[in-house]
Amino acid sequence: MSAPKEPGRTRTSTTDRLCYDLTGIERQYDILLQELPGTRVRFALKACPVDEVLHALAAAGAGFDAASPAEIEQALRAGARPDHIHYGNTVKSDQDIAEAHRLGVRTFATDSVEDVTAIAAHAPRARVFCRLTTSGEGALWGLNRKFGCAPEDAVRVLATARDAGLVPAGLSVHVGSQQMTGEAWQQAVDTLAGTLVALAGRGIVPDHVNLGGGLPALGYLDRRGTPLDPPLDKIFTVLREGMEHLDALAAAPLDFVVEPGRHLVADHGVIHARVVRLTERTQPDGGRARWLYLSVGKFNGLYEMDQVTHPLVFPGREGEELVPAIVAGPTCDSDDAYGAGRYPVLVPASLASGDPVRVLSAGAYAGSYMTQGFNGIRPLPTVCTRGQEGHH
Ligand SMILES: Cc1ncc(COP(=O)(O)O)c(C=O)c1O
Repeated sequence: MSAPKEPGRTRTSTTDRLCYDLTGIERQYDILLQELPGTRVRFALKACPVDEVLHALAAAGAGFDAASPAEIEQALRAGARPDHIHYGNTVKSDQDIAEAHRLGVRTFATDSVEDVTAIAAHAPRARVFCRLTTSGEGALWGLNRKFGCAPEDAVRVLATARDAGLVPAGLSVHVGSQQMTGEAWQQAVDTLAGTLVALAGRGIVPDHVNLGGGLPALGYLDRRGTPLDPPLDKIFTVLREGMEHLDALAAAPLDFVVEPGRHLVADHGVIHARVVRLTERTQPDGGRARWLYLSVGKFNGLYEMDQVTHPLVFPGREGEELVPAIVAGPTCDSDDAYGAGRYPVLVPASLASGDPVRVLSAGAYAGSYMTQGFNGIRPLPTVCTRGQEGHH
């Protein structure tokens, strides 16, 4: 367990912290394996680059999807075997590829002939898997356009890889982060199926399919404070049936990989923060509005607050009168607010400066997206526990 670091001169309360419940994360991993039996899990560590969390997942048997040499080093430090780590970022320099190869990684994501040529030069004989583009529809963060290629390009990319002495080992997709529909994976499976057939026509027989990240967290609320309620059971059914379908049409048995980030950690991380102040003011449209400012916001743990609202718990204020208030972070930036500062949620009317608040389902991408000192606010310290503190 790491103790909170000395925060020094900072506006953040000394008790503010990001708490992970390792037991909850391990349980989430076990449930994922039960839902998708036989699948290899490569945790996308960008979602939670916390040593204790990575160590717990590696000990449970997970591998890692790493996006840079620094992430590979962190995964290795956590105890992962190099052959359980892949370089999942299609964007990498020659130096990144060479460094990953030196660290023992032999499997690389790609989506372009240019990247394949660089991999052949700097990681000779490596295994490559080609990322197919998806629409991103149905996801809160689409991850489309910047990554992935069309099926006909994937055939060209993997044929180039083979000709360059690499192993054309697989195909991958990412249907977008916090994907809310089973249909997105169904479409991805259809695209994968067509591409496998086209590859077979060129004599290329991949050994695995990577179904990516995107699995949703369960605890978020939408911008108006309504639970998002993703259809997780349906998503798992689509994935299981999809894997069966792909395996049946492939020319050789396929392994399946998933690389969830958010799904494993979001609901097992809680931010302990403080109320800065509850105010009431006239807004530019002439109406009155309450604003609740917290010691935590977009730049110190709640980077995703423009898309989702986290459930808030105010210990000691249960059962008190509630009033609508727009919730925002402590900085001078107006982006530092839930739902672009437009949608009030219900909060206790009597909240006072210094009152504790717990921000639930805050475990994904919280630490990785913190600024280093915007408005003098230091990154939150991280604490890992087993049992209660990861909840509230
Ligand atoms: C290649 C890749 N894999 C996996 C993930 C994890 O996605 P998620 O947190 O939605 O599961 C990401 C997220 O950006 C990614 O880029």
